[in-house]
Amino acid sequence: MHKSFDLFFVSSNRHKYQEAKNILNLYGIKIGFLKSNLNEIQSNSLHSIAIEKAQDAFSKFKKPVVIEDDGLFIDFLDGFPGPYSSYVFKTIGNKGILNLLKNNRKAKFVSIITYCDKNIVKSFEGKLDGKISIIQKGKGWGYDPIFIPNGLKKTFAEINNKNELSHRYNALKKFSKWYLYKQE
Ligand code: IMP
Repeated sequence: MHKSFDLFFVSSNRHKYQEAKNILNLYGIKIGFLKSNLNEIQSNSLHSIAIEKAQDAFSKFKKPVVIEDDGLFIDFLDGFPGPYSSYVFKTIGNKGILNLLKNNRKAKFVSIITYCDKNIVKSFEGKLDGKISIIQKGKGWGYDPIFIPNGLKKTFAEINNKNELSHRYNALKKFSKWYLYKQE
């Protein structure tokens, strides 16, 4: 069933996979999906969490894998929720975040994409600066309804070209260049 893919995206989050698949398609890279809850260490560093997740994914599936770890870093909250973004979304959610903010609404999304096979573990970082909206707008997953990329007036959930500018796109673009070069 998985024979046609050389590379697998391992995650418990299908939204991330769908976006990664569309982005990697632009570079001619086809990926399969392996749904799994990976080992997530407690750390203040997305890089350390991502490396641990990638090694866990490779040891589970014994195939070349990519995983992603990301976070929303809000200036007014000194970078919170950052590496705790998943937990914070599940607990206080977008409403809770909006209740915590005042005038300074600057924020950034950071994505770490980590590749792992039996010889290599390598990470790629992508960022996107923006701000937190006043109210939730649009229907999207996670923090999409409250994140407005710099230079735009609409949230990630309201635009149709998120995959052309997101933190995920910025990290996967770097990964793709490296991966395609490695395959030559
Ligand atoms: P993790 O990388 O699985 O630890 O989760 C990071 C959390 O940040 C996710 O569970 C989402 O809630 C949120 N997140 C990451 N990327 C995005 C995005 O592109 N849109 C909306 N929320 C995101």
